[in-house]
Amino acid sequence: MTTPAANAMTADQLRNSFRDYFAARDHTVVQSASLIPHDPTVLFNVAGMVPFKDYFVGNEKPPFQRAVSSQKCARAGGKHNDLDEVGRTKRHLVFFEMMGNFSFGDYFKTDAIPYAWDLMTSSRESGGWGFDGDQLWITVHETDDEAEQIWHEQVGVPMERIQRLGDKDNYWQMGDVGPCGPCSEIHIDRGAEFGPDGGPLRDPAGDRFMEIWNLVFMQFNQDANGNRAPLPTPSIDTGAGLERILALMQGVDSVWETDLMQPLIDEACSITGHSYKVGDYDDRASFAMRVLAEHARSATMLVNDGVFPSNEARGYVLRRIIRRAVRFAYLLGTDKLVMPSLVAVAGQVMGDAYPDVTKNMSFITDVIGKEEERFRHTLKNGLAILDGELNADAEKLSGATAFLLHDTYGFPLELTQEIASERAIDVDLDEFNASMTEQRERAKAARKGGVDVEAMDAYREVLDQFGTTNFVGYTDDFADSRVLAILDGPDDDNGNPTVEIFLDTSPFYAESGGQVGDTGSITTDTGTATVLDCTFALPNLRRHSARVTEGTVIAGQTCTASIDVLRRDAIRRNHTATHLLHSALRHVLGEHVKQAGSMVGPDRLRFDFSHYDAVTPAQIKQIEDIANHETLGNMPTRIFETTKDEAEALGAIAFFGDKYGDIVRVLEAGSTIELCGGTHVRATGDIGTVKVVSESSIGSNLRRIEAITGDASVALLQRDEAMIAGAAQLLGTQSDDLLGGVQRKIDEVKDLQDQIKTLRSQLAAGRAEELAEIAVEGVVVTQVDGLAPGDMRELAIAVRQREGIKVVVLIGETDTGGVALVAAVQPGNSKPASLLIKDAAKAVGGGGGGKGDIATAGGKDPSGIPAALAIAAEAVGQVL
Ligand code: ALA
Repeated sequence: MTTPAANAMTADQLRNSFRDYFAARDHTVVQSASLIPHDPTVLFNVAGMVPFKDYFVGNEKPPFQRAVSSQKCARAGGKHNDLDEVGRTKRHLVFFEMMGNFSFGDYFKTDAIPYAWDLMTSSRESGGWGFDGDQLWITVHETDDEAEQIWHEQVGVPMERIQRLGDKDNYWQMGDVGPCGPCSEIHIDRGAEFGPDGGPLRDPAGDRFMEIWNLVFMQFNQDANGNRAPLPTPSIDTGAGLERILALMQGVDSVWETDLMQPLIDEACSITGHSYKVGDYDDRASFAMRVLAEHARSATMLVNDGVFPSNEARGYVLRRIIRRAVRFAYLLGTDKLVMPSLVAVAGQVMGDAYPDVTKNMSFITDVIGKEEERFRHTLKNGLAILDGELNADAEKLSGATAFLLHDTYGFPLELTQEIASERAIDVDLDEFNASMTEQRERAKAARKGGVDVEAMDAYREVLDQFGTTNFVGYTDDFADSRVLAILDGPDDDNGNPTVEIFLDTSPFYAESGGQVGDTGSITTDTGTATVLDCTFALPNLRRHSARVTEGTVIAGQTCTASIDVLRRDAIRRNHTATHLLHSALRHVLGEHVKQAGSMVGPDRLRFDFSHYDAVTPAQIKQIEDIANHETLGNMPTRIFETTKDEAEALGAIAFFGDKYGDIVRVLEAGSTIELCGGTHVRATGDIGTVKVVSESSIGSNLRRIEAITGDASVALLQRDEAMIAGAAQLLGTQSDDLLGGVQRKIDEVKDLQDQIKTLRSQLAAGRAEELAEIAVEGVVVTQVDGLAPGDMRELAIAVRQREGIKVVVLIGETDTGGVALVAAVQPGNSKPASLLIKDAAKAVGGGGGGKGDIATAGGKDPSGIPAALAIAAEAVGQVL
């Protein structure tokens, strides 16, 4: 039996109670980061600890030693994947919230364990959750005597409710690489009706002894080879599933009946017309409705954080989620769109905790609704194909069919597998994979290379020894500095060796936020290194990729570090212009426009954003006008630092995936205000003219514009002006009369064409006359060179119309060097004209045909023309 704490909490109350409990114990409250992680080793934020990874492994110094959060998580790929469990169990979700408390080298097991117990079991009046301690079971790692001892001796849990389990259950890793350690889990005994006795050890399905809180004792960092190096300091990472605890608190059967999911299940019922059977995991309709409810909420949260349906990585997972839901709706016989109304309910359920979901609702509905429409379109065709293949009593479904469905019909492989498995048929994965490999390889090559573990170790050493780089490039173009370390870099494109230089103080901007890194030089007493790029080796550790172009440069030397100022100025102009364009885009297209990426270089800027349609030329003009109005206003820009909340209150546009809890840097340029860490012009007038040079699609619901500013837009103007003047001169007119001149030229050409046509027909009539005159008993078989095949045919017809003509055969070399043969007999002649040239065509290496009274053929070999004429002459008897 589940024991609800008295006065069940709502989801919002539960989230707050967790934060309050740990805030009262010196934990900094950190807002949930985006579902899109900063860390490239995981596809999504899979746990509360992911945004803090750099703190655990020592790449970055944490601004606080204790933190508490309720983090948005998605488990649908890689090591943590619950997608296929969704709907089948009482507790698995793709999207969920993980409440967690964290210690970065501060407290360890002796505090983490009692905290969790105290919050679980203290009364509601004293800020706890009021669970009955006698129903809680504990698991620890089989080697972890210490944790067992703390649970038993310090907390008082009887030994018979503490069980030891192996790595599979009680060792936690973020991914294939990253922080990890043994863990201890709290389970709650839901009572005999949920399964047999015996604790978590005897209940691998986890229905009776449900896991609700995992305490990870973070101690190691695992590399790609599986080696584990100790973390700088042992740390604590915990995770308690919000939805599960909510189910227990609310005394309901499963997560599906909580206030977060029940409204979605209700909507699924009303839209499909089926009824939901609580706790019935065999009922197909109820299963489908759980999938619909979950996937609608997951998709809503993913789109809200900037994921779009696509065929790559995250976008593919989202696509799979939406398509799986739609397929279930389809199986329930629902023909109309289901996602929009489910998404609306997901918005209501999540909107209080995440107000941006409410703000973005119309866009989210649009993206998911469009994906559903697209998929429904192909679903019918695809299912028909699959049905046919599955009925053909095969034991295996061919990989080629699965690939066709994937490639042409947009059926995720897993969907095909799921449908096939319902009829106990396997998909030939080897064959499927072979077809996929090529595509995948290409995608892989296009992605950035994997993490170089050795280099990472070297960077960490530099960081440990010297600390982070002192960056002065917001204000200074050069700096007196010191070379701290030099590492070997990869060879450049021409095969020359490069080095990676680490400086004490640097004016070089490191590539980030879409802005490219600075170039320039580092000069010491003994030599110069030309800096080709600047990037972050680790957070705040600048790596100057360089080639030593003069003398030698040695670690320890003092140096002057200078950036290429003209290049940086061009970058500044493009960066500030990016903000003006972002704001103008939102103004003209709507608030749903969200930045999806950008590239700010010296020669141009690129801005990718969410929008469902092509931007029209009229809209582009409007966007340019707004941006240029701002540059003409020549307002000084203002940059300041503030808290994220403050910035939001000022109405600043935030880039998606911004880091948690930071003090943010804000740029005010003209009427725009946006978070940004880049370098910018001093006044908007410095930008010069903003000119959009291209607009294109880069994926479904994703557009890209490219624009130029400053010198580049002047150069474009000059180039176009020269082009116009050149064209006008060729036309013999003035630049401002170019269009008039072109129109007159077009009219003139048309006139001439008409004249040519008239002359040609006059010429043809004259020739026809001549040819008719050489007829012998109404038969003309002769050579005519230099005409196009079409003209030759016309000529034959004209000859045939002359008095007394019965048969015409014209053969000759065409204007392009081939051979054309045409034969004509009078309409109504009993034999077809083709008989005249059928054999003749062979003599010129060709063939052809035609029925009736006119036949044409072609050949390649003009030397055979005399023979062809002779053969044709012979054939005349056959048609008369
Ligand atoms: N990171 C741990 C988990 O996800 C707490 O279970």
